[in-house]
Amino acid sequence: MNFHVMTLFPELIEKGMNTGVLYRAMDRGILSLSTYNIRDYVSNPHKRVDDYTYGGGAGMLMQAEYVYLTYQDIMSRIGSDKKVRVIYTTPQGSVFDQAKAEELSKEEELIFLCGHYEGIDERVLEEIVTDYLSIGDYILTGGELASLVMMDAVSRLIPGVLNNDESAMTESFSDGLLEYPQYTRPEEWHGKKVPEVLLSGHHANVEKWRLEQSIERTRQRRPDLYEKWKAENDT
Ligand code: ADE
Repeated sequence: MNFHVMTLFPELIEKGMNTGVLYRAMDRGILSLSTYNIRDYVSNPHKRVDDYTYGGGAGMLMQAEYVYLTYQDIMSRIGSDKKVRVIYTTPQGSVFDQAKAEELSKEEELIFLCGHYEGIDERVLEEIVTDYLSIGDYILTGGELASLVMMDAVSRLIPGVLNNDESAMTESFSDGLLEYPQYTRPEEWHGKKVPEVLLSGHHANVEKWRLEQSIERTRQRRPDLYEKWKAENDT
């Protein structure tokens, strides 16, 4: 997977990606990251990327042309006529979830566009954006953290990025339930004992207990997911 990120803060994207599992995957060539500073494509002497909004109102907008020039440069570097998905991270998008992460992980190239100020001139969005995606119903100061969240969730689904132990932990969401509680040594800590069933060595009972815990936890913490799971699993 090759990620391309259009941003005013490339160092934030690079710092966010250059750690832990993702760093290891980039080092091994399974992932690559290229950042493009939209300001580098600005021709005016003050390197201003934004301007006032037609029709008035507070705040500034990123101008269409510099975003477009950045996009054209990325496409010429990718060097193919393939359609590449361009994701604009915005609170006005549909909410990113595990299913979307799985869908995006099948792509070879992904371009992210991170907005700032009050947004971006609509005309360039119409020309280049294929997906409008939000990470939740709150407003960030810019799209960089949202892009990092999405790249992280997508990356861990790409074969070879996680080692086998880590991959085992992907089950959590894939069945529509939250993860059951887990314990490691010691057997007793702060007077709290590890549930007896987990020490029993009885595999079927352990599985049964874990499923019950997952269901109960989902019901309590995420009633929305629970209702969905129940509707799909009611016979
Ligand atoms: N940019 C600002 N807020 C955002 C959000 N919630 N999701 C994606 N991009 C954003």
